[in-house]
Amino acid sequence: MKKIIIVMSIILLVALVIWLIIQYNNGAGQSEKTEYVASNRDEEILIVDIDELEKRAAEFISIGALGYIQGGAETESTLRRNQTAFDMVDIYPRVLTGVNEPNIKTSILGTEISLPVIVAPAAAHGLAHVSAEAGSAKGAAVSGTIMSVSTYASSTLAEVAAAGDGAPQWFQLYLSKDDKANRQLVKLAEDLGYKAIILTVDAPIGGNRFRDARNNFEFPLALPNVPRAGGKTQGQSINTIFAAAKNVLTPYDVMYVKSLTKLPVIVKGIMHPDDAEVAIIAGADAIWVSNHGGRQLDGAPAAFEVLGDVANRVNKRVPIIFDSGIRRGQHIFKAIAMGADVVAIGRPVIYGLALGGWRGVVSVFDYLKKDLQRVMWLAGTQNIEEIKNVELRYKCISVKCEPL
Ligand code: FNR
Ligand code: LAC
Repeated sequence: MKKIIIVMSIILLVALVIWLIIQYNNGAGQSEKTEYVASNRDEEILIVDIDELEKRAAEFISIGALGYIQGGAETESTLRRNQTAFDMVDIYPRVLTGVNEPNIKTSILGTEISLPVIVAPAAAHGLAHVSAEAGSAKGAAVSGTIMSVSTYASSTLAEVAAAGDGAPQWFQLYLSKDDKANRQLVKLAEDLGYKAIILTVDAPIGGNRFRDARNNFEFPLALPNVPRAGGKTQGQSINTIFAAAKNVLTPYDVMYVKSLTKLPVIVKGIMHPDDAEVAIIAGADAIWVSNHGGRQLDGAPAAFEVLGDVANRVNKRVPIIFDSGIRRGQHIFKAIAMGADVVAIGRPVIYGLALGGWRGVVSVFDYLKKDLQRVMWLAGTQNIEEIKNVELRYKCISVKCEPL
């Protein structure tokens, strides 16, 4: 009898172990180590408030990837401030202006776009949707705007170019330590018809992203444009990837990238007027004001809080692109009134992609088009140039506040 009980227990134990292995392989517990399954939705999405997309998209993105996309550095105070900063200034409603159907078209670096909003470069759109950056590029093209593609994209530069089908695209460069790799990437982007090089300078190393650390997040998919090891970056954390790139950046890097290409070079990640000055002296053809969506230096001001000071220093010598926290028409309006020429969106594109593929990206841009037009109408501005002459009403912005 005792023997039978022992044998039965062993059989039960073995069965339990086999069951656990099968469950693990089937992806129970959302392990990133099993094959990554991204959304393949293909539909327009209904949007009331872009902020709500984050919650809705969460259903289609695994926990680790979602933390990587939505998260910021440390306790995310800068990430939160990116949004609340817009509430520090007001737009006066202007009436009896005769404004009718405001025109939201504009241009940047010689490229006409259907609204003053473009796609910000963001790594690994493949975490959100099977079509990855190729899907976002199609969405941007159909929406009549510019697609920016990260060095750390999930699609190849050629796939993105093909999906854009001639629509304007910019390539965002993370410098490698290897000069040959930099030259090859820039040359490839040029040959594929990309219209500008964005040199990102605010990420010599990664910010301290608590969510990624807690989730032990590693990229489950390849980043095929990363020169190292032919893009085989699966199983690496973002910090490992940043550490392998060039970690010391100076104005000579702007001059170096200028020497590699005839394309305009946009310097992205500027938060201080002095740095804008240095970048312009080094040859920047445009300045991109951004705190990387709150993902780098937590404790930095909101990007919107520094925009006015940077714009004053740039003083129209080169165009200004702005991002970090843009979610509504009033944000676009306020950023342009504060000195931006166009703005960019990062996370909203990724959430639109997760929820509806390229059609979802188009829905995000359609929403922003309507919302911006409505704000312009109510504020009495007929076109984008008129927004640039609008005086915002300051409630409180850091430089105007009393010291703490
Ligand atoms: C980014 N961003 C970014 N920037 C860049 O220059 N190269 C990159 O590879 C990435 N990668 C990246 C991944 C993810 C998931 C996010 C959310 C962002 C920053 C991006 O270009 C932009 O500055 C911010 O996303 C803007 O903030 P919002 O629009 O997301 O609030
Ligand atoms: C990020 C990078 C890749 O913010 O820029 O994750």
